[in-house]
Amino acid sequence: MNKIVKLIKKKNKSKIICLTAYSKNIASIIDKHCDLILVGDSLASVLYNFTSTKKVTLEMMIEHSKSVRMGISKSLMIVDMPYNTYRNPKEALRNAKRIISQTKCDGVKLEGGKKIYQIIKTLIKNKIPVMGHLGLLPQSAKNFKYKGKEKVEKKKLLSDAMLLEKAGVFSMVLECVESSLAKDITKSIKIPTIGIGASVYCDGQILVTDDLIGLNKISARFIKKYTNIEKHINDAVFKYKKEVTKNKFPQKKHSY
Ligand code: KIV
Repeated sequence: MNKIVKLIKKKNKSKIICLTAYSKNIASIIDKHCDLILVGDSLASVLYNFTSTKKVTLEMMIEHSKSVRMGISKSLMIVDMPYNTYRNPKEALRNAKRIISQTKCDGVKLEGGKKIYQIIKTLIKNKIPVMGHLGLLPQSAKNFKYKGKEKVEKKKLLSDAMLLEKAGVFSMVLECVESSLAKDITKSIKIPTIGIGASVYCDGQILVTDDLIGLNKISARFIKKYTNIEKHINDAVFKYKKEVTKNKFPQKKHSY
C-alpha cells in the first residue's frame, strides 16, 4: 500500500507519530519509530539561529532534505516549502517539482488556508502530495499566540481546514490550536490532523526532535523534553578530554 494511503487509513485507528529531522543521523535513529518525518523550516532557529523562518531558502531545504533522505527507509518524508517559494501557482509548482526531484521526498508542506487554495490545487493536480498547515503559521505570524480563542477565528480555521481537505491535502498540521477547536476540526474532516500544541484530540502528534531530546534551548508550553542529550554529550566530551590529557586515548588499538 502507498505510504500516504497507509497514513490516512490510520485516522480513527491508531495515533500517527511524526517528528522533524534535518540530517541523516537523526533521521536514521527516528525512522523506525515514526510514520512521518518532516524536514521542517524550523531549522531556521534550531540550526541557524535565525529569528524567523522567512530567511530559509529553497537551497537550504534541499541540501538538508538530501541528507535526511539517506537516513529514512520506512517513514513518509515531507519537506517544508520555505517562505516566498509558493507565492503563485506557477512558482509553487516549479519549486515543489525541484524539491521532489532533488530530494526524492514524498511530498511538501505549505502554510495557510483559503489564501493558498489555488496553489495547493495546482500542486495536487500535478501529482505532488501536499500536507497542509493551519493555526500558528510561523512564516507569516505577527505574534506567537495560540489560535482559535475567538469565535471568528474559530470559524475561519474550521472552514480553512475543510477547504484544505477539498483541495486534496492528505493531512494537515494544526499548530498551537485551542483544544476544542482541534477536536472539532479533527472530527469534521476525513484526513488526519497532526497536532503541535493542539491537544490530544488530533489524529497524530509532531514535535521538533531537537526539542524532544533537549538539544534545543527553548521552552514552550507544547514542548516536552524526553531526555537531556546535552548532558550525555557533555559527559562524553568531558571523558574524552580527560583521557586525551592523560594519554589514555588513543591506545595502541586505536593507532596504526
Ligand atoms: O518547521 C517545522 O518544524 C514545522 C513543525 C513544527 C510542524 O512546521
